[in-house]
Amino acid sequence: MTGTSIAGWGTSLPDKIVTNFDLEKILDTNNDWIVERTGIRERRLGGTTESLATAATIKALKTADLDLDSYGGLILATTTPDKTTPGTSALIHKNLGISGFAFDINAACAGFIYSFVVAHQMVKSLNQPIVVVGADTLSRITDMTDRSTAILLADGAGALVIAPSNEEDCLLGYDLQVDGNLEDILYCDLGGYLKMNGKEVFKRAIRAAEKSTNKVVEEAGYSMSDIDLLVPHQANKRIMDALSERLGIPAQKCASVIERTGNTSSASVPLALIDSIESDSLKPGSLILMTGFGAGMTWGSALVRWQ
Ligand code: UT7
Repeated sequence: MTGTSIAGWGTSLPDKIVTNFDLEKILDTNNDWIVERTGIRERRLGGTTESLATAATIKALKTADLDLDSYGGLILATTTPDKTTPGTSALIHKNLGISGFAFDINAACAGFIYSFVVAHQMVKSLNQPIVVVGADTLSRITDMTDRSTAILLADGAGALVIAPSNEEDCLLGYDLQVDGNLEDILYCDLGGYLKMNGKEVFKRAIRAAEKSTNKVVEEAGYSMSDIDLLVPHQANKRIMDALSERLGIPAQKCASVIERTGNTSSASVPLALIDSIESDSLKPGSLILMTGFGAGMTWGSALVRWQ
């Protein structure tokens, strides 16, 4: 086996639905403002990162249908681990017994892109399948009296299995970046709540994602018109729309679950990607362009071929 493919997928969301109308009761906000300025109508809150990540991973393992002992390991992208140590990835191992290593990656809302790239390279070097999960329980670091963040942030998980295959590599190119000088536009102190300069993040996110996606697509020898599915971090529908417009990718080719999930950080890209997989939007050979950005400031993009 010389190539790689996405062999399994699964998602998990908490049962509790919180609508904009629910938030109207506790915050100085309203449904119309939230829908117009963010595209979000409802979000799911609750659970632990371990429980959501485990549930998503169980589904991904089932779709992949590979021997648990054949795995090289598991990588969990999360901004909200359940404990300082051990990593929440070890708790998933405790629940499921996947063989090999397990470690967490915290690259905020770009975490799933970072983790996908690392996992892919490890599948190549080990010649074994690897689980890559994005899971967050942002509700645990959200100040529910702060309307600038409480309307956006939510909980969820999405998992993929990347496995050796007889096809070409599924990862065609990537770009991973950070600018630590921008730490103070989006951060959460230990034991504290997430603080965000929304306008600054908004502006920088669009610019960073545009530059990064263009670089990846060009370097891989493609053009934006070749892209079948854009999977942006589900931060704000206006950011997603501005990005697809700048890239010249029509809105119907832009994966979007934000209306019902809100911003789930590390989980948002896999939730949107898996929604497209499960609605049969992808065909063998489809080109997927994933991009994420978040605290750090981190950002990154990956170009993937659906096999
Ligand atoms: O995942 C990590 C990355 N995070 C992001 O990408 C988030 C990026 N930022 C955003 O999504 C947006 O900046 C927000 C949704 C956070 C805010 O939207 P905005 O369009 O930038 O609003 P704003 O802060 O400029 O506020 C516009 C107006 C203000 O009123 P005035 O001064 O015009 O009278 C705010 O006080 O809207 C008011 N406002 C609200 N009104 C109702 C701000 N938040 C709310 C609210 N409900 N929740």
